[in-house]
Amino acid sequence: MPQTVQPVMEVLSPAERRKLDGDDDALFYAEPRFVQHLDAAFRARLTALYRERIPPCAVVLDLMSSWVCHLPEEVSYQEVIGHGLNERELQANPRLDRHWVQNLNADQRLPLADASVDAVLMVAGWQYLQYPEAIAAELLRVVRPRGQVIVAFSNRMFFQKAPQVWTDGGDRDHLATVARVLMAQGWPRPELIAEDTPAPGPLGWFGAKGDPFFAVIATRPDGTRPDGASQG
Ligand SMILES: C[S@@+](CC[C@H](N)C(=O)[O-])C[C@H]1O[C@@H](n2cnc3c(N)ncnc32)[C@H](O)[C@@H]1O
Repeated sequence: MPQTVQPVMEVLSPAERRKLDGDDDALFYAEPRFVQHLDAAFRARLTALYRERIPPCAVVLDLMSSWVCHLPEEVSYQEVIGHGLNERELQANPRLDRHWVQNLNADQRLPLADASVDAVLMVAGWQYLQYPEAIAAELLRVVRPRGQVIVAFSNRMFFQKAPQVWTDGGDRDHLATVARVLMAQGWPRPELIAEDTPAPGPLGWFGAKGDPFFAVIATRPDGTRPDGASQG
């Protein structure tokens, strides 16, 4: 499996990487959670975004996945690869063709070949990364030219498991930090989405809000090798 080594440009300080619960993340995720982490309005918005942005026949990687991927049911992709921290959740995910378990705060190297993926999804996951720079560099390596990374999140988290850079910041800071980390590794300036969603059910008809929707979408340029050199 061809794997180049990507240089990593540090953005976060050691303090920003610290989290309240410093125990091995694998312990926190040892028991499966067959729950939805985001409300129906958020999930509908996310699925619509995937329908619009990810071409059928793409190779999709759902990084930090669970028993659900939020991909549109009617679309078939070439392959959907899943990653997470709980084997039973990933086994129960009907969209995954294959999956692996890996603690990304212990090891950031992804077991995937260079330029082998068209779309990387990360839903409510970035907020738990202590070394997001190394992950962003790996994503630049595994994503094909013109492929994309879609990082989506809302305004909640398992507080004790999120590093300080996330717990100390607001929604706008979260969008900015994801963009900053990606760009420091060579990704072009990403597109940012920040939207309200309607609360599910009758409350939404009267203006109540659901989980706010945030996404950072970065597209790998054509003609750039994973090591940053031009192919032209
Ligand atoms: C809030 S859940 C979101 C799961 C899924 N993306 C979804 O939309 O329902 C956060 C996920 O991040 C993953 N995760 C958290 N910490 C991790 C770590 N250190 N290494 C790898 N994955 C981690 C876990 O597998 C967990 O399922």
